[in-house]
Amino acid sequence: MLERTVDLRSDTVTLPTQEMKDAMMAAALGDDGYGEDATVNRLQELAAEKLGMEAGLYVPSGTMGNACALFAHTRSGDDVFFEERAHLFAGARGEFAVLNGVRPHPMQAEFGAIRPEQLAEIINSEDVSQPSLLCIENTHNGSGGAAWSPTAVAAVSQAARAHGLKIHMDGARIFNAVVAHGVDAKDYARHVDSVMFCVSKGLSAPVGSLLCGPRSFINEADAVRKRLGGGMRQAGIIAAAGIVALEKMVDRLADDHETAYLLCTGLEAIEGIKIQHPPTPTNFAMVNVEDLGWSSESLIERWKVYGILANPRPPAGARLVAHRHITREDVAHVVDTTRRLVERG
Ligand SMILES: Cc1ncc(COP(=O)(O)O)c(C=O)c1O
Repeated sequence: MLERTVDLRSDTVTLPTQEMKDAMMAAALGDDGYGEDATVNRLQELAAEKLGMEAGLYVPSGTMGNACALFAHTRSGDDVFFEERAHLFAGARGEFAVLNGVRPHPMQAEFGAIRPEQLAEIINSEDVSQPSLLCIENTHNGSGGAAWSPTAVAAVSQAARAHGLKIHMDGARIFNAVVAHGVDAKDYARHVDSVMFCVSKGLSAPVGSLLCGPRSFINEADAVRKRLGGGMRQAGIIAAAGIVALEKMVDRLADDHETAYLLCTGLEAIEGIKIQHPPTPTNFAMVNVEDLGWSSESLIERWKVYGILANPRPPAGARLVAHRHITREDVAHVVDTTRRLVERG
């Protein structure tokens, strides 16, 4: 029998709070297919308000929110620009680009932050004929949860707009970026045309994401959502938890950042372990054990015996994600266990 399980695979494992469950039980409901679910409507308004955008759309997942944005922003034959590890491109394996007949142009950017000059270079290249959309991801999952600054977003957006592009932000964890940079979500949203964020990750709601943007865009995205089978009915039962997530759970993300920082410093002090340091880190700890001669899988397997769960980042890395259920004792368990494993070899 394991002493404890420390589940660091993702912040998506967070469970709803009691306040969320109470709100779910009390939620006013209606048929959202007719726009009659008061709780969904309130969540959508609240999301738009937080971002300073006109309208919001509640969708079952971040993947669907991004897909709705891509479909609503583009037409067949359009050229779309992504960072190569972006969830919307790499995570969805380009399926949505294929489905909507757009031409994806991935580019490699340090910590996921596409620079204006690299965007301009790729737009001006020969194989681009219908430049249409830039997708950026904040925080950037594939590069260790790096948070873009509003200034970096403004710079690339300016370049994108100069070329007539629309900009979509996959802000699955935008509130982690907000907390890490000490800014307002509007400081990001004002530089882009649409934002998707998830309430189901560190914010701890059980289900759902919001897509926000201008009213006409959201109307189109809503039509796409329905076509994709994402129309929900008395969805207020889950949206109620999303309202609590937005109203009560944003500020505490700072605790997750502190937990990730403690994991990073504790593990980095162990001989043979390297940690990736994004310029502005959030709730991820990216561990590398190459110097120990271990593979990702062998690290994950060693940890698992002691109840520590993490996701591999091959060939010799692992991703640890801090969230609401990870305590200081859990951090100590991870660090102490890892030290013993390394000493044992
Ligand atoms: C950056 C980013 N975008 C989108 C998604 C997709 O969200 P969902 O799992 O709700 O579909 C994820 C999921 O981890 C993500 O990290």
